[in-house]
Amino acid sequence: ILPLLLVALIGYLLGSISFAIILTRIFAHEDVRSHGSGNAGATNVLRVAGKKASALTFLCDFLKCAASVLIGYYVLLYVCKQCGIDDEMARLGMYAAGFLCIIGHMHPLYFGFRGGKGVVTAAAMMLLLDWRVFLICFAVFLITFLWKKTVSLSSICASFVYPFVTFSVTYFLDYRVGTLPIVYVVMATAVALLIGATVIFKHRANIRRILAGEEKPISFKKES
Ligand code: G3P
Repeated sequence: ILPLLLVALIGYLLGSISFAIILTRIFAHEDVRSHGSGNAGATNVLRVAGKKASALTFLCDFLKCAASVLIGYYVLLYVCKQCGIDDEMARLGMYAAGFLCIIGHMHPLYFGFRGGKGVVTAAAMMLLLDWRVFLICFAVFLITFLWKKTVSLSSICASFVYPFVTFSVTYFLDYRVGTLPIVYVVMATAVALLIGATVIFKHRANIRRILAGEEKPISFKKES
């Protein structure tokens, strides 16, 4: 349990580095949270500080969660080997570090606990946990985006299908062919449900705007 708490703490501290806030301060000398949607994420950085700052935010947020998940995995793998525990249990380290990184991104310790909605960090975790699940959810994101040109709606749709896709992929492609015990299917699905629900919950204001027909499609021009 101690290694799990340790990697969760590392994940939270890494997640708390809000690149949206830092890069918008550097590029536009503004607090990204005082403009646009008020969200500290790549989409809002695009509105406030432009394409370059937004792309960098995307990359750095993606990498911080990928790093957290990998740290979680390798620390737990080391512990499993030392204690003679099944290597697959190292996935618990990925779950703990990755999820706490997402929480850190949403509620950053160094920036008054007001951060982003966790879409890019969740995507990084999704990719490292299971690239097949990532590809399907990314396809859902892309199709919705090409249809409505709205990042929030695309993020909500991808988060909604995430647990169902995780269950289907791990159950039919792993468990049924005998490469994964059912307990891992249950664990992966529960984590996907938790992440999907958390990200959707953070989009409450977007959902209200979407339902009212007030959510604006993406624009690649800086808002003045
Ligand atoms: O990156 C989060 C995205 O899904 C929505 O961002 O700024 O439009 O609320 P925003």
